[in-house]
Amino acid sequence: MLTLLNLLQDGRFHSGQALGAALGVSRSAVWKQLQQLEADLNLPIYKVRGRGYRLQAPLSLLDYASVNEAEAPWPCQVFDSLDSTNAEVMRLLASGGVPPFAVTAERQTDGRGRRGRRWVSPYAQNLYYSLALRIEGGARQLEGLSLVVGLAVLSVLRSFGLDAVGLKWPNDLLVNNQKIAGILLELVGDPADICHVVIGIGINVNMQQSVEQIEQPWTSMQRESGGLVDRSALVVRLGQCLNDYLERHRRQGFATLREEWEAGHLWQGRSVNLIAGVQRIQGRVLGIDETGALRLDIDGEERAYSGGELSLRLSDDS
Ligand code: BTN
Repeated sequence: MLTLLNLLQDGRFHSGQALGAALGVSRSAVWKQLQQLEADLNLPIYKVRGRGYRLQAPLSLLDYASVNEAEAPWPCQVFDSLDSTNAEVMRLLASGGVPPFAVTAERQTDGRGRRGRRWVSPYAQNLYYSLALRIEGGARQLEGLSLVVGLAVLSVLRSFGLDAVGLKWPNDLLVNNQKIAGILLELVGDPADICHVVIGIGINVNMQQSVEQIEQPWTSMQRESGGLVDRSALVVRLGQCLNDYLERHRRQGFATLREEWEAGHLWQGRSVNLIAGVQRIQGRVLGIDETGALRLDIDGEERAYSGGELSLRLSDDS
């Protein structure tokens, strides 16, 4: 089935005869496979008499060899379909997998977002990537880690020409207030001792429209740049940037990356509501502290906030 998709990924017309010959099957077997592709993967296929079959839009499928090129900082497994790449990394760790290693997939059937949300993960459209790391330095090595990952993703997106992209505390990436990427860190083990962290990154890459409802305004790299993005090249760039930033973080700690993070923060100086469960705290964003906590000016007094369950909204008067 994947071979048929490989043949169709250019988005051009292919006759049933040519597809059958390339796959070594009959035209009716091609027809059956096409129907199955459409049904299983939610990929509309156009059928035009006399011309053949083509996908609604070209695809960029993940290529194992390109993703694991010689300079890659860690091995990366490529799956067709997973419940969640974070969940798969956790299973691999539990069965003795040795970090660092990464996992990516063409789709996720149960993609996890922050604060218990779902992460919509259609087939071959976006990037779903999880990295397993071993943390030996205790709490200090975790300080600001999710913000550092945000910086790495920011530099990847900018290197693909997305100049308007920026960060929203703690680790969302936005273009014109629309979400383009999100990050979910999950810990395994005891943070005070030796533990593993699973760094999950979702980037909206070639998604033009979503069959599933997405709860917040969103955009994608293709929507912003107009062209099909090579997803394997994106995985390679992401690995390089993550490796660079994680190395700086490991050697020098978060404090040295703080200024760079604030320079990329879209909501510096803005009036915001910080949502913590049912509580809403109103203030003006001053920046972050040396641990990555958010600094707010609340009625003239400075307070710092941190924690995975917090999220920010702009105040109406901002
Ligand atoms: C967010 O809510 O902003 C975080 C989204 C994180 C999604 C990524 S996709 C790859 C990895 N696997 C998951 O199940 N979630 C993360």
